[in-house]
Amino acid sequence: MANRKARPDKPDRMCYLSAPRPPDRSAAMNSITITRPDDMHLHLRDGAELASVIGASARCFARGIVMPNLMPPVTTVPQALAYRERILRCAPPAARFVPLMTLYLTDTTAPLEIRRARDSGLVFGVKLYPAGATTHSDSGVTDISRTHAVMEALAVTGLPLLVHGEVTDANVDIFDREAVFIDRVLAPLLQRFPSLRVVFEHVTTHEAVEFVRTAPANVAATITPQHLLYNRNALFHGGLRPHYYCLPVLKAEAHRRALLEAACSGSPKFFLGTDSAPHERATKESACGCAGCFSAPAAIELYAQAFDQAGALNRLDDFAARHGAAFYGLPRNTETITLDRQEWTVPAQLPFAAGAIVPLAAGETCQWKMMNS
Ligand code: DOR
Ligand code: ZN
Repeated sequence: MANRKARPDKPDRMCYLSAPRPPDRSAAMNSITITRPDDMHLHLRDGAELASVIGASARCFARGIVMPNLMPPVTTVPQALAYRERILRCAPPAARFVPLMTLYLTDTTAPLEIRRARDSGLVFGVKLYPAGATTHSDSGVTDISRTHAVMEALAVTGLPLLVHGEVTDANVDIFDREAVFIDRVLAPLLQRFPSLRVVFEHVTTHEAVEFVRTAPANVAATITPQHLLYNRNALFHGGLRPHYYCLPVLKAEAHRRALLEAACSGSPKFFLGTDSAPHERATKESACGCAGCFSAPAAIELYAQAFDQAGALNRLDDFAARHGAAFYGLPRNTETITLDRQEWTVPAQLPFAAGAIVPLAAGETCQWKMMNS
């Protein structure tokens, strides 16, 4: 078999993965105006890194559910409020970006902290990272049974549990870890606490889509742009491509299609969460590269591309701006943004603290461009 040589200087256009447009598609839309969207799953980091990336999210999104996996993690309400202040100090004032804070669940989180979080009015969820599942998850939960008192408090307060849904069992194939998590952890948890409000974050498999679709209304899911646009081939296309590596890892094409269908279905259970997760270039282009795709610089455009490929641009507003706000009990944003069908090239890299960062889809041609940013 011919060994295709990697051409990192000449990235492929992303359309090598694109689904063909439906044949019955009426006159192509060349512009779309939607409610200003919210990013319901976002990593902003801290310090100089935060200052480098906040503008990319604030240019487009009105609000963001901010992940707590800093080092050390954000485990208490005072820590979350202090982090919120740091974000607000860094955000471009004109953007009026609103960070929606979360707490990092550990084996020792006290139920009282959940009540404090609810009473703060500024904490919107509690994040479950199985210990060792992903970036900065070392302080995560080692055994779900240790969190039962906290789950009870979450069920009572109505504060959502935000779930990184992968088992960490090394004997489970990495592509199966999400499906196994449903059977071993999530389904039993919801059986025990049926009223628990759950956001199954960054779903990547048709098993997760089916689980959420058939669950009661208190269970919803976020979907990332990378899992809508790429399948696992993107990780190995002409060579090893670390900037397409995130956790949960990209899956096979059948899973991508199931996600696209769910996102475009109009179901209020599925909404936008980019999981934009910045890592400095060298830490990704390494013998043991970090997981995470920095999607913020082109996020809404990439979602528009995915919805356009599915012939479902008319559903983008629901997915990006309505379903997430409704699940979190937030008012819908009143401003709008406009995207035009206009080709542009996603930058090869951007400044990041003292170094550089490679965004998702770097060097690829995007068909949609946000105009009022
Ligand atoms: O790819 C990922 N990166 N998945 C996560 O769950 C965490 C994130 C990060 O913080 O970099
Ligand atoms: Zn994440």
